[in-house]
Amino acid sequence: MIRLDKMLAHMGYGSRKDVKELIRKGYVSVDGEIIKSDDTKVDENSEIVIFDEVVKYDKYVYLMLNKPDGYISATYDNNLPTVLDLIYGYESRGLFPVGRLDIDTFGLLILTNDGMLAHRLLSPKNHVMKKYYLRYDGKYSESFADIFKKGVKIDDYITKEAIFEDLGNNEAYMSICEGKYHQVKKMMEYVGCTVTYLERIEFGGIKLDNNLKRGEFRSLSEEEIKMLRGDYFDK
Ligand code: URA
Repeated sequence: MIRLDKMLAHMGYGSRKDVKELIRKGYVSVDGEIIKSDDTKVDENSEIVIFDEVVKYDKYVYLMLNKPDGYISATYDNNLPTVLDLIYGYESRGLFPVGRLDIDTFGLLILTNDGMLAHRLLSPKNHVMKKYYLRYDGKYSESFADIFKKGVKIDDYITKEAIFEDLGNNEAYMSICEGKYHQVKKMMEYVGCTVTYLERIEFGGIKLDNNLKRGEFRSLSEEEIKMLRGDYFDK
């Protein structure tokens, strides 16, 4: 059982203060009865209606963030702002980022409290594809696609097959199925280039929503959640 106000705040209906106000004003009913006391206890079987809308309490939260630069992919840091500082309405849901983007990398970052799914998405054996758009300094060569397809030696490992798509003007897409530290930057360094801009545009089949401005987030749709749970785990 969970307090009604806590649960509604978890579900993104506002801060604890906001939802207490909604409850007191009589906008919320539980199992057909208008409830005015915010410490009423509910569980996943309670039928909660707010503004005529049935609230489905999901244990797990899945969000897509369009990460700006200047934020680190962690839940806490002593000095720097973290991606969790951009998320509101989900306090105390135990969210964490699925993997990491560098502080200066932009784009698609998934946040969840579903540890099992995150673990599977990050496990190297599942080869979850991530696609990046990048700009770089250095000389383009037609051989890049081949080189990255075969794999390059970075630190003490050889990268798995990656897809490099040249876009002209020192812009490209790079798709990788691993997540080593600074991987894309290091792969480009290997061919004598320096990444000057990096943005993740896809993760496990999910595309960055172009309607999200930098720093904005939204819940994943049912379809996107299904995609993340996708068949590749069952192979
Ligand atoms: N590769 C990088 O070099 N940095 C990122 O943030 C992600 C992939």
